[in-house]
Amino acid sequence: MKMEIKNLSLLNFRNYEKQRVSFESGLNLLYGSNGQGKTNVLEAVYFLLTGKSYRVRQEKELILWDQKSFYLHATCSVLDRIISLESYYEPGKKVMKVNQIACKRLSDYVGIVNAVFFSPDDLSIIKKGPNERRRFLDLLISQIKPSHISLLNSYLRIIKQKNNLLKNEKNIFLLKSQLEIWNQQLIDIGSKIIINRAEFTERLNNHSQKIFKDIFSPNYNLSLNYFSLGKKDVSQALKVFPEILENKLLTEIERRTVIIGPHRDDLLIDLNGKPAKMFASQGQQRTMVLCLKLSEMEIIFNEKGDYPILLLDDVLSELDEYRRKFLINYIDNSARQTLITMTDLEKSLFKKGKAIYQIINGTIRRENNVSSFGK
Ligand SMILES: Nc1ncnc2c1ncn2[C@@H]1O[C@H](COP(=O)(O)OP(=O)(O)OP(=O)(O)O)[C@@H](O)[C@H]1O
Ligand SMILES: [Mg+2]
Repeated sequence: MKMEIKNLSLLNFRNYEKQRVSFESGLNLLYGSNGQGKTNVLEAVYFLLTGKSYRVRQEKELILWDQKSFYLHATCSVLDRIISLESYYEPGKKVMKVNQIACKRLSDYVGIVNAVFFSPDDLSIIKKGPNERRRFLDLLISQIKPSHISLLNSYLRIIKQKNNLLKNEKNIFLLKSQLEIWNQQLIDIGSKIIINRAEFTERLNNHSQKIFKDIFSPNYNLSLNYFSLGKKDVSQALKVFPEILENKLLTEIERRTVIIGPHRDDLLIDLNGKPAKMFASQGQQRTMVLCLKLSEMEIIFNEKGDYPILLLDDVLSELDEYRRKFLINYIDNSARQTLITMTDLEKSLFKKGKAIYQIINGTIRRENNVSSFGK
């Protein structure tokens, strides 16, 4: 069986009061005017698969206005199994279930069914600061290695403790000796995070280089490098990690805050050797993000032996004709499951005979019946 979402139920999620929808293998096209609930459907799927929204930090924003909780359910297939995923949320309480069993940790849940999400907002991966890029990397790694989530949580705790200490401990002798203990842990956990991120950067780089030449032009070279502890050479950075921390100790004490560690690292994205953020055109940047997402698909495929579900939110209007055709071709010709949202105008771009849904004001209406399209 393929990695697929078979059906989805939403209860009081965003602008959906009560809705159930079945999806098909291959392409599922969701169209409608602005503000009807297209993005909300993809958000629901993403939330079920990852336990997070990619849009908000405050989960209570996901509850239908004036309601107290939301509930999502999906039946998915992955390799030889059918899996039921459920999410229930009310402020202060979040329950995620796999096959009716509640998961204690996010890492028990994430990565069972994989998805790659791509929306115009993802341009921020290139345009904005390093934290967007670290987040992109960490989300990818977490889908494949759930242990990465625990590493990140432990790391955050260490940074928090270290910061507390730097702010509150007045006795310089005590401060130094305690900082040394925390630094040791920071090195242990931080190194593992750096190693994961560097490894996945290399994998992304290998796929993206080729894909970018295909979509953009053979004359352009996209390259990705993980930039750790102020160094481009990661093995060198790891080697001198203890030294770097020691050298910064006095500055940290002076400024009363943690100033170095993988929480400050970056993923460098270059076009022909120059930072894409500064020199690539808008369209090139969009193509690069598309490239990163398609590389993510390939990495998950290599790991899981199957392609993740592809969630594309409103991405067609952002691309020029050539790039748009490339993407449509990619989706049209692949057997993998794709949920794509678009406005009314763009749906004619696709071949006929796909599953088509119209979304109007929080209701999803299937336009063609199951027998009328090929799988
Ligand atoms: N918690 C909520 N409760 C009720 N409605 C909400 C909630 N959050 C968002 N909405 C509404 O849901 C509607 C649909 O939002 P959505 O982002 O899915 O639209 P869309 O179809 O993707 O539109 P666009 O084409 O503009 O991207 C919006 O009108 C929005 O105001
Ligand atoms: Mg939208």
